[in-house]
Amino acid sequence: MVGIIPEDKINEIRQSIDIVDIIGEYVHLKKQGRNYFGLCPFHGENTPSFSVSADKQIYHCFGCGAGGNAISFLMDIDGLSFQEAIIKLAEKTNVSLDIEKEAEVHTHEPKANIEKKQMKAAHEFLSKFYHHLLVNTKEGQKALEYLLDRGFSKASIEKFQIGYALPSWDFTVKLLQKRGYELTLMEKAGLIIKKENDNAYFDRFRSRIMFPIQNSKGETIAFSGRAIDQDDQPKYLNSPETELFNKRSILYNFNRAKGFIKKQQQAILFEGFADVISADNAEINNGIATMGTSLTEQHVQLIRRMTDSVIICYDSDFAGIEAAFRAGNMLTEQHCHIRIARMPKNLDPDDYIKKYGTEKFRQDVIGNSLTFMAFKMEYYRLGKKLQNEGEKLQYIEKVIEEISRLEKAVERDHYLRQLADEFSISLEALKQQQKQAYYTSKRKNKHQTEQKPKQLYIQPDGRLFPANQTAERRLLAHMLQNAELAFKIKDLLNGIILYYDEHQAILTYLLGYYEEGNEPNTSKFLLHLPDDKLRRIVTELEMMPINNEVSDKEIEDYVNQVLKHQKMLKIKEKENLQKKAEQQNDLKKAMSLAMEIIQLRKSL
Ligand code: UTP
Ligand code: MN
Repeated sequence: MVGIIPEDKINEIRQSIDIVDIIGEYVHLKKQGRNYFGLCPFHGENTPSFSVSADKQIYHCFGCGAGGNAISFLMDIDGLSFQEAIIKLAEKTNVSLDIEKEAEVHTHEPKANIEKKQMKAAHEFLSKFYHHLLVNTKEGQKALEYLLDRGFSKASIEKFQIGYALPSWDFTVKLLQKRGYELTLMEKAGLIIKKENDNAYFDRFRSRIMFPIQNSKGETIAFSGRAIDQDDQPKYLNSPETELFNKRSILYNFNRAKGFIKKQQQAILFEGFADVISADNAEINNGIATMGTSLTEQHVQLIRRMTDSVIICYDSDFAGIEAAFRAGNMLTEQHCHIRIARMPKNLDPDDYIKKYGTEKFRQDVIGNSLTFMAFKMEYYRLGKKLQNEGEKLQYIEKVIEEISRLEKAVERDHYLRQLADEFSISLEALKQQQKQAYYTSKRKNKHQTEQKPKQLYIQPDGRLFPANQTAERRLLAHMLQNAELAFKIKDLLNGIILYYDEHQAILTYLLGYYEEGNEPNTSKFLLHLPDDKLRRIVTELEMMPINNEVSDKEIEDYVNQVLKHQKMLKIKEKENLQKKAEQQNDLKKAMSLAMEIIQLRKSL
């Protein structure tokens, strides 16, 4: 399965990297005992069930069952082929791979992958070209002046590879064609548009300032083009949804910001990417933005992997406040701590920074951000006349409902007091009403069906398994640790096939692995397993605490448990046959089956 890269190279690379570093780039890991824990990047979750073992150089998620080594992690998270993952890992080490990267990668590669690569290459090429047009040519001068006038710095223009697309109908089409890109593919990539009634193509982006959009790997996968003239609509023209670009899962600047977000344990969520660039220029490097869509669950998961603390810094207009309320609720639901930054009316963060400068933005906007609860208290006020008795009571009720959702008693008390002070109501009365609100919502929640965890082959709790399954799992776990013991168990089993097909498959691969002279090493052994399901079981077994100094007696007990189960199955089978024989009045056969059953029972 390892293909063209020699196995010793793969092992060399495997040994010179640390899985904790590799996964740490994607998941915020905390050390707990011998292992590291974090939120699983492969499924949405709020309590960390994703564990990484530095000793064994493997990971396993007890929530969704995902598991493997550093190579399979990169394959799964970045959608890489085995070879690509190795190449990526090699880049982090001193190990040189003496292979022609391009030639090697393209062998046996599915057509869809090759197409995606070409689409990405075209984006990369165009972003460089548009950038060149903006900064170095007379054609781009007006656009450049516009940007500089607006306060974009030269450094930002460089860093974010901002560019300019000419006011031409077919400049990009011709350029791509000359470069050998297939136009049908370029249309699929959203870069050009096919005319309706003939076979010609025209440029999607014309006379626009071009902002390349990158995925979380830093690959350019789309553009957003800003109009220069006010009359030009829309203001921002985005690439359409393509195989590369899915607005619902892309966060602008995520690739650059993710390291800062993790280090600072905080993300700042903006509404527009101009705000992100402005903030970045002010050395606020943990800013991200959605691409003109509202926040989705996918965005939340992406953020949640890096941090649980988010400052929402949206525009202060009505739409911005509504959007902040919605985003705040979504993030809170995933147990994020939220603060909401506010700006004077009619300014967005970009305008604010340009008008008042970095320091004031840091202090007055970010530093003075509201807790989500304080924001909600303001939010529910909007459009209400609180002098009006009815509206006032409505408002208080709404706020109490929100207060009763707060987890901490101290916080609940704080906001209740605030309400009591403002409206001259007794604290006692408010507390009582808050309790009522709490029980009402609890009752409501009870009726909603809890989301059940996925039914998996693997349960996190070993004791839940039937005895024979536990026995098989324990045997395999010991075999994974100790080659000598593995062969001993093989002899004890004496040709008996394990009941669970996956277990038998692992056993067979493992013995083969040892016979080739390999030492026990899970991360390496995983390379010999052809199938994801088996890898998941192995990583789970490896994360299972077992006693390394196992007694012969214990091993024998497990083997006996396995044998016993096989005999029980045989008994059941014979009992069925016996019943059939009786029904057919074949008493002789029924008798002989009964004898066999007695013998089997005796041997249990
Ligand atoms: P805004 O209208 O707030 O843009 O839209 P902005 O960031 O202040 O931009 P400038 O300062 O006028 O240049 C916020 C986001 O909504 C999306 C873009 O992603 C933008 O960053 N948007 C906006 C569109 O997709 N299309 C549009 O026509 C407008
Ligand atoms: Mn703006």
